[in-house]
Amino acid sequence: MIVRSETPSDFAAIRIVEEAAFLQSAEAQLVDDLRAAGDSVFSLVAVEGEAVIGHAMFSLLKAPFPALALAPVAVLPERQRMGVGTRLIREGIACSESAGWQGIFVLGDPAFYRRFGFDAAKARGFTSPYAGPHMMALPLGRSELPTSTGSIQHALAFAKLG
Ligand SMILES: CC(C)(COP(=O)(O)OP(=O)(O)OC[C@H]1O[C@@H](n2cnc3c(N)ncnc32)[C@H](O)[C@@H]1OP(=O)(O)O)[C@@H](O)C(=O)NCCC(=O)NCCS
Repeated sequence: MIVRSETPSDFAAIRIVEEAAFLQSAEAQLVDDLRAAGDSVFSLVAVEGEAVIGHAMFSLLKAPFPALALAPVAVLPERQRMGVGTRLIREGIACSESAGWQGIFVLGDPAFYRRFGFDAAKARGFTSPYAGPHMMALPLGRSELPTSTGSIQHALAFAKLG
């Protein structure tokens, strides 16, 4: 398996992975909408042979420092729990850090995301319509975010998710 940036020839396969993982089309639509709006920063695919088996998107986030939103992350159901999601997230974090981003915010299950260093306590001081125990932040390049309070604003496409 390799992890690489998406290319236009992956778009249809990414839709299939997103729909299969979430059993609905909202996340696949989010990916298409983020891309169309120019808000996607890193969109990574996990590929085995010719087949896309996983996908992770990192998009622009308005924050008091340069920060990204991680969402969605999806792995084909038959390939879950084999380390694919972990590879995608770790490579995305490394890309983000080396490109100079200072933090990543994710909305998800702390039981899964804490292994990467995402921490709900670090996100608690930020206002957002999505604020709550499932909002987590990961500082990049240092152990703390540049500021611990402020407002964060996800790309407009997230509003459609409800
Ligand atoms: C969540 C998801 C991306 C993880 O990818 P994956 O390739 O299955 O995960 P990995 O194999 O790298 O990691 C597996 C570990 O994560 C845990 N895990 C997987 N999904 C989890 C979840 N929803 N909640 C908590 N832990 C989870 C597994 O128990 C396993 O833990 P272990 O290493 O302690 O045994 C994938 O299961 C998926 O696509 N799920 C449906 C869509 C989704 O919920 N996406 C995340 C929200 S954006």
